[in-house]
Amino acid sequence: MTTAVCPGSFDPFTLGHRYVVERAAACFDEVVITVVVNPNKRGMFGIDERIALIEEDCADLPGVRVDRWEGLLVDYLKQESIRTIVKGLRSAVDFDYEVPMAQMNRDLADVETVFLLTDPRFAHVSSSLVKEVAKLGGDVTPFLSPHIHKALVAKVTGERSV
Ligand code: PNS
Repeated sequence: MTTAVCPGSFDPFTLGHRYVVERAAACFDEVVITVVVNPNKRGMFGIDERIALIEEDCADLPGVRVDRWEGLLVDYLKQESIRTIVKGLRSAVDFDYEVPMAQMNRDLADVETVFLLTDPRFAHVSSSLVKEVAKLGGDVTPFLSPHIHKALVAKVTGERSV
């Protein structure tokens, strides 16, 4: 059985993420979306919220499950006996950011990183840009599943009323 990990912050999970997970699910028997906890970075969504939103988003994708991890990513892969990471590439900027991590992860734990190209529709979509646009009142419905859009609007509205 082939398994791959799709790691990320997913604050929140976008349709660009979903597209990469779909492509990965077509290549591997099992895909684990691992929400990586960064204790030094407080996101808009808590880890449990992110996991619940992703689980709902990917409920229709067979072989896809969601997990969490805090610490070195390769330690997670070792613990789970998984040897492959899947990352989405939107542009050369992503490539420059991802290649050193892929090489470091291979040095640390003999882990392979497989890059999948994102759909051009989502080449400009990132969680941070979506949050910024939403905070400023822009329409981000094309970039998120409806339940995640609803959750983001609730967060943004809550922040505005504080
Ligand atoms: O969605 P992001 O924030 O671009 O995801 C980056 C992430 C979380 C996958 C990356 O920062 C990571 O792997 N963090 C875990 C800590 C780690 O292993 N750092 C060394 C990477 S070589």
